[in-house]
Amino acid sequence: MSVSVLLLLAALSSCTGTAASANNVPKIVASAGETVLLPCSTTASDDVPAVEWSREGLPPDIAFLYRDGCETFEMKNPVFQYRTNLIRDELHHGNLSMVMSNVQRNDSGTYRCAIVRNPKTVIARVELFVGAVSEPTLSVVPDVGGGLTLQCEAKCWFPEPTIRFLDAQGNEISAEDPKRDKESLGCFTVKRRVTLQTATNSFHYSINTQT
Ligand SMILES: *[C@@H]1O[C@H](CO)[C@@H](O)[C@H](O)[C@H]1NC(C)=O
Ligand SMILES: *[C@@H]1O[C@H](CO)[C@@H](O)[C@H](O)[C@H]1NC(C)=O
Repeated sequence: MSVSVLLLLAALSSCTGTAASANNVPKIVASAGETVLLPCSTTASDDVPAVEWSREGLPPDIAFLYRDGCETFEMKNPVFQYRTNLIRDELHHGNLSMVMSNVQRNDSGTYRCAIVRNPKTVIARVELFVGAVSEPTLSVVPDVGGGLTLQCEAKCWFPEPTIRFLDAQGNEISAEDPKRDKESLGCFTVKRRVTLQTATNSFHYSINTQT
C-alpha cells in the first residue's frame, strides 16, 4: 500500500499579518517565538516625542517608555525585559512602532501607543494574538485488525486545531472522534485516528485552526 501524505498545515507562522478586527483595532497574528511589529505612527515631526507603549490590564502596564532620547526602564514590566524596542532610525519620521521579540501565548492582548505630553494622548491601539503550532506527526497504530490504522497528532496548538482525513478526491474519510487534551501552557494536543480500507491507496490529512 502506498500512502501519500499531503500536509496542509495552516501554520499560523505563515499568516503573520494585520487585519482589522471587529472593533477596528488592527490585529496582529503571530505564533509563539516570533518577532512582531506593533504599528503606530504620528504625523511627521522633527522633534521626537516621549513615547509610551503599554498593555491594557497588565500591572504595571509599561512595555516600553521612551523619554529624552533614550529608554526609561523604571515602571517597565519585567515580562518585557530585553524583548521590546522602538526603531530608532524611524522615530524622527513619526514612526513609533514597537518591535517585540520572542512573543508568547500570554503576550496576547491589546497594546496602546501614546505620546506623553500633558496630557498623555493615546494615538494607536493594536491587538496582538499569539497562537501556537508544531509539526504534526503521523504514525501507524499497531495491532488493530482490519485495515491500516493511522494516528495524526498535533501537539500543543492554539487555538485548538481540527484534524480531518481526506481521500484522493478530497472527500472526508470518516475517522474516530478526536482526543483532545488541554496542556498547562494553555495549548491543545489533539490526536485522531483513521482506519483505511485496503481499497484506499492515497489520502491526505489537513489540520486547521481559526483565529
Ligand atoms: C515603521 O518602521 C518599520 C520598520 O522599518 C516599517 O516596517 C514600517 O512600515 C514603518 N511604518 C510606517 C508607518 O512607516
Ligand atoms: C507569560 O509566561 C511566562 C512563562 O510562563 C512568564 O514568565 C511571564 O511572566 C508570563 N507573562 C505574562 C504577561 O503573564
